Formats: sequence, C-alpha cells, structure tokens
Amino acid sequence: MFSKIVKLVVVRPCTHQCFMEGVTHTLEKYIINGGFPLQGEVTISGAKNVAVAMIPAALLSDTPCVLENVPDISDVRIMIDILKQMNVDVQYKEPGVLAIDSSHLSGTTVPYELATKMRASYYFLGALLGKYHHAEVALPGGCNLGNRPIDQHIKGFEALGAETELKGGAIIADATELTGASVFFDQVSVGATINVMLCACKAKGTTTIENAAKEPHIVDIANFLNSMGAKIKGAGTDTIKIVGVSELKGSTYSIIPDQIEAGTYMVMAAATKGDVLVKNVIPRHMECLTAKLTEMGIGIEEGDDSIRVYYKKRPKKAMVKTLPYPGFPTDMQPLIVTLLSVAEGTSTVTETVWDSRFKFIDELKKMGADINVSGNMAMITGVDELYPAPVKATDLRAGAAMVIAGLMARGTTEIYDIYHVERGYERIVEKVKGLGGDIQKEV
Ligand code: EPZ
Repeated sequence: MFSKIVKLVVVRPCTHQCFMEGVTHTLEKYIINGGFPLQGEVTISGAKNVAVAMIPAALLSDTPCVLENVPDISDVRIMIDILKQMNVDVQYKEPGVLAIDSSHLSGTTVPYELATKMRASYYFLGALLGKYHHAEVALPGGCNLGNRPIDQHIKGFEALGAETELKGGAIIADATELTGASVFFDQVSVGATINVMLCACKAKGTTTIENAAKEPHIVDIANFLNSMGAKIKGAGTDTIKIVGVSELKGSTYSIIPDQIEAGTYMVMAAATKGDVLVKNVIPRHMECLTAKLTEMGIGIEEGDDSIRVYYKKRPKKAMVKTLPYPGFPTDMQPLIVTLLSVAEGTSTVTETVWDSRFKFIDELKKMGADINVSGNMAMITGVDELYPAPVKATDLRAGAAMVIAGLMARGTTEIYDIYHVERGYERIVEKVKGLGGDIQKEV
C-alpha cells in the first residue's frame, strides 16, 4: 500500500535494551494521610496491558473498530496521540468507548518521540508489518525494570519472512511477503506472543507459536482479532496456531478488567486492615493472588465478578516467586512485598521475570520496612508498622506500592514521580477516596 522508501538488506538479531523514559519529571505528588482502614466498593477499569495492544491491533482492520472499557490513563493517551499523528481518525464516542478508523493512515513510521515514551509502542511493529509489510518504530520506553530486550519479537518477525535493522534509534522491519512459520520462543514473553500474533494474522499460511505466554491479555487480544475475522486457536495455552486470512474487518470489542489494578485494591484492602469489595473482576484471573492472601490469613470472598477482601488478623509470612501466568505476576510483586513488610515472621520474595524490579525497596525502607535484597531475592522481616516518609514512585507498580504503604502508615506520606502511577491507574485518587482513603494530588 505504501511505497517503500528504504529497502532493507541488513539482518541483525536485535538484543537492544532500552533505558529511555521519555517522560518529563514533574513536581506533582500525592499527599496521603494514612493509618485508616479502607472500606467500601471499588470498580476495576479495563486492562491497561490489553488496551495498549488492542489500539495498535485495530490498525489491522480494513474498517473502523470500536473498543469499549478503555481505561483513561496516560499510556492510552500516548497511543491515541500516536494514532492522531499518523492521521488515524480516533475519538471517544463516550467515556471509555474509543472508535478507531485507520482508512487514512499516513504511513508506517510511528512518531519517534511518542514511541519512546512507552513500552507498548512495540505493538505497532507487529500490526504495521502484518498489514503493510513495513514498520518503523523507535526503541520502546516504559518502566525501567532492567534488561528489556525484544529479540524474541524480532525472531518471530524474521521467521515470518521480515528483515529487520536498527537505524537511528528505530527498528525498521520490512517484508516482501509474510509467510506462516513455526516460532519457538526461547523465553516466555507477553509482548513477543502478542506481536507475532498481530504480524501473523494476515500472513500466508499457518503460524505456530510454541512456548507462548498464557496471560489473560493474550486471550483477550486473540478474541478481539478473531472477532475481526482472524483465525487464531490456542490462545491461553503454550501453543497458538494462526491461519492467515486476507482481510480483517472492524468489530466492537470490550476489554477485560485489569488484573493488576484489581490486585492493587485487593492488597490495599488487606494492608490497611480494611474491608473492600473489588468489583468488575474475573476471579479466575486473580487466583494466584487470592490463594496467596488466603495463605497469609486474609479474608477472601469470591463472587461471580467481584472479590471481597477483608482483614482478620496480622498477616502470616509467605514465600512468593514471580512467574509467567498462571504463576504469581511480577506486576504484583511490589504490592505483595509491601503487605509482607508488616506480616508476622520473615518472608521471601523471588523475582524471576525482571532483573531490576526491587528498586522500590529502598523507598519502602525509608518507611521502616526491614528488607534485605540479595540478587533476585528479597528477605522481608515483618515490622509492626510502617511510618510516613517522603518517597518516590520508581516505576508504575512500585508507585502503586508506595500508595499502599502511605495508606498503611499513620501520618503524612508524600509520594513523588507519580507520573509513573498515572501511566496505568485510572482515577486512582478518586477510587482511593471512594474507599475512605485520605489522598490528595498536589500539582
Ligand atoms: C509485559 O511486558 C507487561 N507490559 C509488563 O507490565 C509485565 O511486567 C510483563 O509483560 C511480564 O508479565 C505490557 O504488557 C505493556 P515480557 P513485556 O516480554 O511484554 C524477557 C506493568 O507494570 N524477554 O513478557 O515487555 C524479558 O527481559 C508492565 O504493567 C526477552 O528476553 O514483558 C523478561 O525477563 C511492566 N526477550 C521476560 O522476557 C524478548 O524479546 C518477560 O518479558 C522479550 C522479553
């Protein structure tokens, strides 16, 4: 469809790491007056990590798509800005309902600066390559969790017949034709699984992804693509089969509730000695957390689409190891560490997904937590209580952990660098206030 400006011949395995944040630090902060139990009901928003993949996925369609339950968070706003700069007609029909019409897309180069602001901009590679056989996307930004290579994404694109190169800080992927192939991931990767699904939907023949990620996001994206006419089977298992089709048509699709946001409010309820009904959740997606909280002695009552979490007595120590789904999610690791910081006895938390996701522990220690980190293991000796201190959000989930810690500590805690939190939590101040929490955002 687009004339190819660059003919790519260099093929290089991509092991790039990205340390770009791309987001300007601000003086905005949360001021929390903590020490009170949270009580009441909170409704969970649409999943961030689905929305940021589904928006690029909509570009694969020949006709407009409508996405429902889209969370209003800064990562989604960046995605929308990217689309607008690429001449895609994107607008909210009503809050949370986003219509995307890419029939006037202006090209296959994603605006450089916007792409560096978030990790999920890499999904434009799979979507644009899949539809137009060409994509240029800057190396992605997002939370700095250590080494964040995208070699498995590139391996998948190349297996389907694309050539890739890194030029001027951007990845350029190009293919004369995309042909279904067998892709065996060396490492289970959410992003690579979704990206290869996007790329393979319109390839000729059948693509098989082995050692695929099984997170609920994968299933939701596959369901969305299938609703557009794709032929994807096996999403949610180790092996995904994609039979390429020649065209995809627009559909209306509602994003699943955010598993990690739900986990955040569940831990918040337990950590503040509260009693909270977390609504609009898929309890099956929360099993790893509900099992762990139950083991720690926290009260749990599951409904069809809600979970009540209530405090009974001081939580017991626990051993936690982060793993790909259905294991304990790395994105909930900072949350559980914060709760364990006041549990009885000594707990251990092992982080196996990201090599640098314990940076927030230094902040938690400023609030009195007793934690020793050795390599990828944190040893947490429960203290009686946390106390207030000025702290910062070192990344998105770490920021949510600081909010929980602030709500636990009696007195006034100030949290800086909150732009991290607002990348992924819709109306967090309003939701916490709705549960009786004393939190203000100072701009
Ligand atoms: C997604 O990141 C999420 N982000 C992350 O959530 C989440 O922490 C992560 O999955 C793991 O669950 C989005 O969905 C936008 P991966 P992703 O590829 O896809 C290694 C949050 O807080 N790897 O599953 O980038 C990698 O280094 C964020 O919402 C390779 O080696 O993660 C890591 O160790 C933070 N090569 C592991 O795989 C690759 O090509 C899992 O990464 C890709 C990944």
